[in-house]
Amino acid sequence: MTSQNRSLLQLSRRADALGTENAFVVLGEVNRLLREGNDIVSFCIGQPDFSTPLHVQDAAVEAVRGGKHGYTPSAGIDELRAAAAQSMGALRGLDITPDEVVVGAGAKPFIGYAVASLTDYGVGDEVIFPVPGFPIYESQIVANGAVPVSLPLSESRNFAFDPAQLAARIGPKTRLLILNTPHNPTGGLLSRSDLEAVAEVLRAHPHVWIYADEIYSKLVYDGEFSSIASLPDMRERTIISDGASKTYAMTGWRIGFVANKMLAPVFTRWITNTESCASQISQWAAVAALNGPQDDADRMKRRFHQRRDLIVRLLNELPGFQCAAPGGAFYAWPNVTKACAIVGARDSEQLRTRLLHEAGVAVLADAHFGPRVEADGQHIRFSYAASEAAIEDGIRRIDKFMRTARP
Ligand SMILES: Cc1ncc(COP(=O)(O)O)c(C=O)c1O
Repeated sequence: MTSQNRSLLQLSRRADALGTENAFVVLGEVNRLLREGNDIVSFCIGQPDFSTPLHVQDAAVEAVRGGKHGYTPSAGIDELRAAAAQSMGALRGLDITPDEVVVGAGAKPFIGYAVASLTDYGVGDEVIFPVPGFPIYESQIVANGAVPVSLPLSESRNFAFDPAQLAARIGPKTRLLILNTPHNPTGGLLSRSDLEAVAEVLRAHPHVWIYADEIYSKLVYDGEFSSIASLPDMRERTIISDGASKTYAMTGWRIGFVANKMLAPVFTRWITNTESCASQISQWAAVAALNGPQDDADRMKRRFHQRRDLIVRLLNELPGFQCAAPGGAFYAWPNVTKACAIVGARDSEQLRTRLLHEAGVAVLADAHFGPRVEADGQHIRFSYAASEAAIEDGIRRIDKFMRTARP
């Protein structure tokens, strides 16, 4: 191929617009530094550091040995759809039937399927999403040719948003509202009264769908988990999204599930068009996770709770750090505006780079989760899905850095 011809080869606008999840980019950098022999404590990646419960592993081995390793229906095996319907319904006080549930290779693919199913390309359809927020929301909105409309979460509201700001963003072009509770990256929760305020706003806009990303629903430490789907008039228009990754330490098994009556056949068709089905082996493992003993899941949750208390206490002892106690998930989101000033870092991203190279501590910066919320200052994210020893070691390193670093 001549270089002239090669220059005529172009990517689609969709491919150009597709973003990424910077946790994976930073993780690549951390892994490179580790390979080069550097000593790094990593708080980058949002996945439990525990082993998948033994009875879940056994179910997978049994599936392989028992010949249960072929394709399954695109919506998932009946046993898992039933188990997920039961589990999601029980937590939310809803009667969810198995035919409303679709199983996918993780919860993540449903973000793209939802945006693609509910918006059209290039016609100005709008999707409202939280900022800071899981980067895949904006990436999928933009790649699907819809218009991203950010909804700022604020520290003064414990990382909830102002319902008046939501109301101001909804118009005739709004197709979808993405909610995420417990929240990545702040660990914030939307309380029942927050959700009631959202439902009140949405009742005036019956054309707006809701994507309720509730992947951390079982990791709540303060108060109770609430879902917008449980509130009057909200169920029909809400896609409830949950999964096995975070609750059962099953991130790499790739099992997520959603529930919505009208969209279940649509999501099923997307899966037929993409991965065909989630791994059958993982599906049987997830049946064991959901229907089997919950002791391991409970134990992991208790450990996350203890670690949350530990990391919040230690972060608040660091010069220039200020950390609100996150109500759920496994992320701490300290305000580091003063810390940046102390060490002469331009912003949280420069602080993050210096922590990595000068202190040997890997974290993510707020810039990895969308544009910074005005007036809220600088933040960095710690995933405390790391051992207590790693938390203590990492914070000790940052303390030393904060006391010795110079601009
Ligand atoms: C808010 C949020 N939604 C969805 C996901 C994806 O979960 P899964 O591993 O089930 O695809 C994550 C994973 O980090 C997340 O933080």
